[in-house]
Amino acid sequence: MAGMIPVEKDVARFGALFAAAATTTPQPQPCSATSVIVAGMGGSGIAGRLAQALAERCGGLRVSAWSDYGLPAWADGSEHVFAVSYSGNTAETLSGAERAIELGTNWEAITTGGRLAALAHEHSAPVTAVEPGHQPRAALPLLLVPLLRRLTLSGIEAQVAEATEVLAEPAGDAGAIAAQLNGKLPFIYGAGGLATVAYRWRCQIEENAKQLAVHHALPELDHNEIVGWAAPPGNAVIVALREPDEPARVAARWEASRAVAWRDVPVVECRAHGKNPLARWLSLVQLGDAVSVELAHLNGVEPTPVVVIEELKRRLEE
Ligand code: PA5
Repeated sequence: MAGMIPVEKDVARFGALFAAAATTTPQPQPCSATSVIVAGMGGSGIAGRLAQALAERCGGLRVSAWSDYGLPAWADGSEHVFAVSYSGNTAETLSGAERAIELGTNWEAITTGGRLAALAHEHSAPVTAVEPGHQPRAALPLLLVPLLRRLTLSGIEAQVAEATEVLAEPAGDAGAIAAQLNGKLPFIYGAGGLATVAYRWRCQIEENAKQLAVHHALPELDHNEIVGWAAPPGNAVIVALREPDEPARVAARWEASRAVAWRDVPVVECRAHGKNPLARWLSLVQLGDAVSVELAHLNGVEPTPVVVIEELKRRLEE
């Protein structure tokens, strides 16, 4: 932990970190593959999940985020693989890179170093070097920007530029939202790409505030989880992540879900800022990160250490 930048410091300058990454990351030739796999776990894996959501929304290529050992069974060597691991020592991501080598796939690493960088050097695979000293989950802007710059996503440069502007201002009052989640079990919901952002909120609340949280996606949750609200836990609270000018059918779904299932449950609504998906989604990532730090303070815990994850990794290596 010595020399590690505290999570709360990085969370407070999320916009500045993104702006710095947008300015300093070179604009390399995008990779020419039309199908890309982004292997990564936890705080590093979220970069691939956001890239997948962007590709689903904007088109340009197919992106599959992968958070497991190896690579999907359908991978046949024709894809381009990105192995994203902040530490460079995550077993699952290393095994993804090893599978790419077995398949003869083009692959590259985004990492601070570790065994992943060594493997890439050994096999002459490109490495994007990321600044060390951060917690992986706090380094999201540093992992995401170089990844996006390598993908042929439609209109991505304009989106990065807009996100830089939007992230200069917070999208909501993190302290007030945290007060509403304090001592509660938050169910965080979003539609489309905001389902990925809901997952980020969940992970950040769990890792930074050491508090359980749940997430799900609209419209899918209207076909299963909504029934469970017949008998919710007494401390449940819903966090609704919403885009401005969302399609009428999505707005109607939020209202209908509330009317049939959430009449007696508090709902905290958070609206994204910005015009394009990247800015909108990151504006709510930034807000969720800040909420998780405020919650950590309310819970009387330090946001930075994730002792359980470290202990688990150590045990698995023994
Ligand atoms: O937030 C964390 O510390 C974890 O979720 C890590 O990101 C995860 O364990 C993977 O490690 P790394 O990001 O170093 O590959």
